Amino acid sequence: MAVNDGGAQFEARLGEIAASTESLLDRLLGPGQAAGERARPARLLEAMRYASLGGGKRFRPFLVVETAALFAVPPERSLMAAAALECVHCYSLVHDDMPAMDNDDLRRGRPTLHKAFDEATAILVGDSLLTFAFDILARPETHPDPGVRIALVLGLSRAAGLGGMAGGQMLDLAAEGRFAATPPQLDLPDVEQLQAMKTGALLRYGCVAGAILGSADEHQRTALDRFGAIIGEAFQIADDILDVEGDAATVGKATGKDADAHKATAVGILGIAAAKKRLFGLIDQAESALALFGPNAALLKAAARFVAQRRA
Ligand code: IPE
Ligand code: IPE
Ligand code: MG
Ligand code: MG
Ligand code: MG
Repeated sequence: MAVNDGGAQFEARLGEIAASTESLLDRLLGPGQAAGERARPARLLEAMRYASLGGGKRFRPFLVVETAALFAVPPERSLMAAAALECVHCYSLVHDDMPAMDNDDLRRGRPTLHKAFDEATAILVGDSLLTFAFDILARPETHPDPGVRIALVLGLSRAAGLGGMAGGQMLDLAAEGRFAATPPQLDLPDVEQLQAMKTGALLRYGCVAGAILGSADEHQRTALDRFGAIIGEAFQIADDILDVEGDAATVGKATGKDADAHKATAVGILGIAAAKKRLFGLIDQAESALALFGPNAALLKAAARFVAQRRA
């Protein structure tokens, strides 16, 4: 009963945060140009809106807003950081789907960006959404203290770039054997590292951003960092299980592709049963990581269970 109640409350809160993120992105990506912009070219703006509006679970925004809520950060501030993170995530999906990367035609139940538009536009959408994320973080509405804004910018830079998401995507493609005569043989720690970078880094940042916005103390920040890292690992294992067990109509993207593409996944190394066991072990660890926050962290704990049980 308690578990179900937590799940229902989580779903309701995820829906609310998704709607708030959607309307904020809709406003930020409106036709009116910001100071210093010369113009907003209609095709690029339309494609940025296609990539970032009208779909997605908005789980990363949820993490930012709910971790910030532990410190009573006003939602209008945390939603700005949430929107910035979602811009980086949406850009990562646009590029991930391109023919030179995973070559996918379906995303969030719709044609991928390069299918709905074209490849050059998809490259520029990625460039522009990534840059826009830092534009959002730098605005005083995100936080009145410039020191907090710089910490948010630094954290997102590290999570998105060379040593984070983009670096992890490089390792993901290398693991397919694209850049060598013989594909590298990855063991479980190698795969964990790759996944902690390509997927974990942005989810982890979502939790750390809450701590930064809320001026968390060292213990609180360490706990949220640990929670985020565990959620990040779990999220990609769940994604890899959905690739095997899910169907495209429910998941909103092609399934059954990872093994054929020689993707390095925990499922590939451990097998599906052991991967599921690991996933549920991670959820227990994620819940323990939040012990410090007591009942205030109930929704974040429910979020951890959602990661393991999600069908899309
Ligand atoms: C998909 O992320 C890509 C991964 C990192 C596994 P999500 O499952 O969060 O995708 P959306 O945003 O809900 O579409
Ligand atoms: C995605 O990993 C990681 C990103 C940085 C986008 P996947 O390639 O498994 O994500 P999906 O399955 O296409 O959403
Ligand atoms: Mg990929
Ligand atoms: Mg992909
Ligand atoms: Mg996948």
